[in-house]
Amino acid sequence: MSKVLVTGAAGFIGSHLVDRLLEAGYEVAGLDCFTDYYSPEVKRRNLSRALAHERFTPIEGDLLQLDLDDLIRGVDGVAHLAGEPGVRSSWGERFPTYLERNVQTTQRLLEAASRGGLEHFVYASSSSIYGSSDGGPVAEDATLRPASPYGMSKVAAEELVRLYARERGVTSTVLRYFTVYGPRQRPEMALSRFICAISSGEPVEVFGDGSQAREVTYVSDVVEATVATLETKPKEPARAYNVGGGTRTTVGKLVNLVGETLGERPEVRYCPPVPGDVLSTWANLGRSRRELGYEPRVSLEEGVARQVRWVLAERRALAAA
Ligand SMILES: NC(=O)c1ccc[n+]([C@@H]2O[C@H](COP(=O)([O-])OP(=O)(O)OC[C@H]3O[C@@H](n4cnc5c(N)ncnc54)[C@H](O)[C@@H]3O)[C@@H](O)[C@H]2O)c1
Repeated sequence: MSKVLVTGAAGFIGSHLVDRLLEAGYEVAGLDCFTDYYSPEVKRRNLSRALAHERFTPIEGDLLQLDLDDLIRGVDGVAHLAGEPGVRSSWGERFPTYLERNVQTTQRLLEAASRGGLEHFVYASSSSIYGSSDGGPVAEDATLRPASPYGMSKVAAEELVRLYARERGVTSTVLRYFTVYGPRQRPEMALSRFICAISSGEPVEVFGDGSQAREVTYVSDVVEATVATLETKPKEPARAYNVGGGTRTTVGKLVNLVGETLGERPEVRYCPPVPGDVLSTWANLGRSRRELGYEPRVSLEEGVARQVRWVLAERRALAAA
């Protein structure tokens, strides 16, 4: 495989994947329409390193509108990360956006993939498809019981990937990422908010009592899993893999860890729990380890320290600009 299309290339995970693929010698086409889920300016900065690279082709456009046949014909692999993230905002009025950006985009890409001779289609799914893992680590064959409309939209997209693999022969794999963190993390995600608030001397808002447990995954681990998947011939059509960090924490402990890393004492303001925020996520990584050779490498303490350093450096750079 030599040429890869990354959708959602300007986003948090997509931009890291683009950088890593370029470093590994691939030709990369990076597609994004810069939605306003969060600042498009932030997304443009995410791509600044890639834009200077001669093997990178930026494509600014919406997957719901572009002619995808031409795009797919020109590449060997697709990593489909474009989508509308976020559990909280998926309730109520905004649900049609989730259907468009998570479900319809996936169907359009798969339709084009079924006509072109693509080697591998990799879909970025989410631990949200499982709902809460109250009884221990969750394996890929667990019953899917999403607790939010966002999770349901990811289940629907996964089902499309399985359908097109079975009925139309699209060679594909599903990766289920567990809460990803690190530099460029989306600004509304918990760790981003905690770092911003504590480093600015402001109170931290915690939804619920802080006892929610999360399997968290440093972004370079997610990226390595995704690159390894693109390069691995699928064992069966649309096989699913958990991509977790091999480490868990609670929201409360995460606040304390950020405080310790910054040398500050966090002031916490507890807010009502958010519907769809599950009590626990926990990945069984056995299958990913065996079949993808996946091994998470970055510890929570190291990962949080790296994200803190990045936030402070960005702030200094923006202030100096
Ligand atoms: N961040 C996490 O913790 C996490 C966990 C599990 C799964 N995921 C999945 O990983 C993927 C990437 O997540 P992220 O955190 O980097 O999100 P992100 O919002 O930073 O990136 C998504 C990108 O997709 C683009 N996009 C959305 N709709 C598009 C369309 N119609 N056409 C072209 N581009 C479009 C957006 O502009 C954005 O840049 C998503 O599919 C998400 O569901 C993320």
